[in-house]
Amino acid sequence: MEHMLSARDLTRVEIESFIQEAELLRSMSRTELLKVLNGHIVATLFYEPSTRTRLSFESAIVRLGGQVVGSENALETSSAKKGERLVDVFRVVGSYTDAIVIRHHETGAIEAAADWSPVPIINAGSGSGEHPTQALLDVYTIWRELGRVDGSRVCIMGDLKYGRTVHSLIQALALFRNVEVVLYHPDSLGLPEHLYRLPGSLKISRAHSFEEAVSGVDIIYQTRVQVERLQDAGEAAQAGNYQLTGEHMQQIPLSARILHPLPRVNELALEVDDDPRAAYFRQAENGLYIRMALLRELIGGRGLATEVDRRPAAQSC
Ligand code: NCD
Repeated sequence: MEHMLSARDLTRVEIESFIQEAELLRSMSRTELLKVLNGHIVATLFYEPSTRTRLSFESAIVRLGGQVVGSENALETSSAKKGERLVDVFRVVGSYTDAIVIRHHETGAIEAAADWSPVPIINAGSGSGEHPTQALLDVYTIWRELGRVDGSRVCIMGDLKYGRTVHSLIQALALFRNVEVVLYHPDSLGLPEHLYRLPGSLKISRAHSFEEAVSGVDIIYQTRVQVERLQDAGEAAQAGNYQLTGEHMQQIPLSARILHPLPRVNELALEVDDDPRAAYFRQAENGLYIRMALLRELIGGRGLATEVDRRPAAQSC
């Protein structure tokens, strides 16, 4: 694996090996972990706000013995402000570091520029497009909570139009056997068309009531309305009907789990936190280990290459 750009590029075997690796890293001592990225430097460039993704990546890097350089408000504090293109950012930052973790506001921009980077690029969220490392931690959480992914029934609710975590998660779920996805969303915030047509055995249907949506489910994946991406206020008009409260929990199977990529606003009531089925804080913690596994895979085994090493050998004269 060269970069981590889209859930589309993942295979089932890769996801399973990230999960195994995450479990192994979880069991390792602090001293053992420090050897994994010892001496490597990773850049984190965030052109959009983030709490979990940036801090779990940065903690993962530091726990693995690597070091972090970066910009947490890159749209304002980097040369993006002067109009610099991502291709140049990747070439330059890639000559200082061993990998680049980047979140960007323009859908598809990271993917389009990645080939100019001399080091692995990790997409930490690209506009309303994808968020593949979130999909890894979501599938990891489903596996940890249920003991399996195959055969699960997953209700995804909220903003499926702009929610990039949903777009990546659906593609990752499609790699497993007999997964059923039930979508529950306002008419204005439906799943992009192309995600209905994924290869594999994924069954996607749409529910029109909460009762129908949660009947027999194993996982409820609640999401926030991506207010910062709405084209007009009308798009979110019915979103208030898609909340999850303590009262809703009474209709949900006792064996089910509630996931949410977080941050939550008002689509997930605080009272749900006390229910043992609420798995979203465990989900956020899983992000640390799956991101460690990813960093180990992408850079752990590499030597420290420099721009000088990458130059073609000089002709003898
Ligand atoms: C998500 C994102 O940035 O897409 N957050 C995250 O990375 N856990 C979800 C969101 O912002 O709603």
